[in-house]
Amino acid sequence: MPEADISVLLKEKRIFKPSQKLVSESNVKKWMDKQGIRSYEELMKKSQDTEWFWGEAAKEFVEWYSPPKKVLDWKLPYSNWFVGAKYNIVHDAVDRHAKRHPDKVAYYFEGEPGDRRKMTYKELSDEVCRLANALKKLGLKRGDRVSIYLPMILELPVAMLACAKIGVAHSVVFSGFSSLALADRINDCGARVLITCDTFWRRGKTVALKAAADEAARQAPSIEHVVVVKRTGENIPWTNGRDLSYQDITANESTACETEKMEANDLLYILYTSGTTGKPKGVMQRHGGYAVNIALTLSWVFDLKDNDIWWGAADAGWVTGHSYIVYAPLILGTTSIIYEGAPDWPEADRWWDIIENYKVTVFYTSPTAIRMFMKLGTEWVKKHDLSSLRLLGSVGEPINPEAWIWYQLNIGGGRCQIMDTWWQTETGAFAIAPLPISELKPGSAVRPLPGMAADIYTDEGKRAPAETGGNLVLLSPWPAMLGGLYKNPEKYQETYWAKYPGVYLTGDIGRIDADGYYWVQGRADDVLKVSGHRLSNSELESSLVSHMSVSEAAVIGKPHELKGESIVAFVILKKGIEVSEPLRKELREHVGKEIGKIAMPDEVWFVADLPKTRSGKIMRRVIRKKVIGEPVGDISTLMNPEAVAELDKAK
Ligand code: PRX
Repeated sequence: MPEADISVLLKEKRIFKPSQKLVSESNVKKWMDKQGIRSYEELMKKSQDTEWFWGEAAKEFVEWYSPPKKVLDWKLPYSNWFVGAKYNIVHDAVDRHAKRHPDKVAYYFEGEPGDRRKMTYKELSDEVCRLANALKKLGLKRGDRVSIYLPMILELPVAMLACAKIGVAHSVVFSGFSSLALADRINDCGARVLITCDTFWRRGKTVALKAAADEAARQAPSIEHVVVVKRTGENIPWTNGRDLSYQDITANESTACETEKMEANDLLYILYTSGTTGKPKGVMQRHGGYAVNIALTLSWVFDLKDNDIWWGAADAGWVTGHSYIVYAPLILGTTSIIYEGAPDWPEADRWWDIIENYKVTVFYTSPTAIRMFMKLGTEWVKKHDLSSLRLLGSVGEPINPEAWIWYQLNIGGGRCQIMDTWWQTETGAFAIAPLPISELKPGSAVRPLPGMAADIYTDEGKRAPAETGGNLVLLSPWPAMLGGLYKNPEKYQETYWAKYPGVYLTGDIGRIDADGYYWVQGRADDVLKVSGHRLSNSELESSLVSHMSVSEAAVIGKPHELKGESIVAFVILKKGIEVSEPLRKELREHVGKEIGKIAMPDEVWFVADLPKTRSGKIMRRVIRKKVIGEPVGDISTLMNPEAVAELDKAK
């Protein structure tokens, strides 16, 4: 459909109603029938009794070794769920399925060059046990930490599960992050072992992951061993004694390994995410509540049934992958897809080819990817039969209605509802999202899910009237709520709980319309969303300032057609350093090297001054307004108002 027609469609403000069939056969409707709940409204109302609701959910989705004594113990700002239960998420994700339906496929893997591998639940269990036993032989025990630096290959979920099985917390670091970023994260959590691979495929070339892991390990004294998966078989540097081949250490291990019986609130993983300061925060997630919350949300929102083929086309290095590629689909006993490479490699129809080949029924991706495919044109989509799809999803950033409509028409064939799921690393699970029984408005994540309570608050802490923008807050605890920030209780309190007493601040802004639909607009704080990836302005700034030529730096996000936001940096050079093109390039690459390619600024501008408050804080807001061409507003409180005009002279 031509672009012009799409914008016309938008003006209709259509509401997309689910089909009768989708509603009546949906998992959520069946649960409502069982509970004697007759309407969406009644479901929302009853589910506000949080302890009753999540207690019921636990009965449906998880099996405890021994049952909880209490559903919730809430001591603001910390929640403990299913207190007293003995549990391990691996029992639900792997052990029970390996016994009950050993031959069901857990994962279909497709490598970028086209190599394929499938792994049944029994094979998954065998592999997890072998690695768990090998890790135990390295001396790892309950309470230790392991860092995992792997691309999208089957050994990534295997490594996560093997750690969880023996009570070791994993810290997965996205394979696109640099060695420095990896070293920081290892040092923060004190990991004893790092699991990585030789090299992997990206856009027809290999990425030297082991070399980056080596650089990180050199700066991380807690690392005793580096376990290396052989992915491509390329030659790699090797440190005898420290480095161990994954294939070698697992080959002769037993396929039996007892799953450690943990407390429901014991640490499952640490996942580092960007906040408003330069240092990433270690979000902690625990076994019990997390399992219940992610399993219910995946089952209800994406309505997964026994014969569905689920593809969450994200990277397990981010929370989307932790919750909805690894743990939740496995708890539900689902068959999922894992694809190693780039979405448009070797050609722009790689994803559609995968959907057709494996007959994917439910597909979940990001607005950035959708906008990229929109730009590439529908001819790539039309080459493939996508009729297996029955539901679609979106995550990571606000989806603009144009992309929503394009997705619905061209990928969903006009028949698939689109589940726009709003959540965060900290929420662990979908928080605001439609259900199959919901009517949809393109661009809205609809309403808080059952068991969740949200609102929009004014700065003064009052409920914002309908259609009025404000801060998105969550009002009561939920089971996959973060268990705090690793070794940083002050930051936890200050980031999420300081603005409004007793209320969780998401950091996002949005509004609720007259029908109660939520429209999340973006971040209120200094966090960037680039292609759905979360980066912090100050993290990027400190990286720039760490370059020997740079004296000061300010980084802002500028609206970008494809990526949501692009990174624009303003830099003041040290005395005597000349502005030059090679230096501009060098600064971009410096950030790429320090944080990772995804963090490379799109634009670097050299300036003589930057607007600051009287206390010396750089006013990013003013710079941003200037860049996007909006009035900068009152600048009388600035220490150096003339710096605003200086921005026009940026080189
Ligand atoms: O700003 C919101 C945006 O992503 C942030 C969370 O980022 P992260 O922790 O990296 O997790 C991403 C995957 C869950 C949120 O604070 N965000 C996420 N989903 C949506 C969204 N913004 C609008 N609509 C969404 N569906």
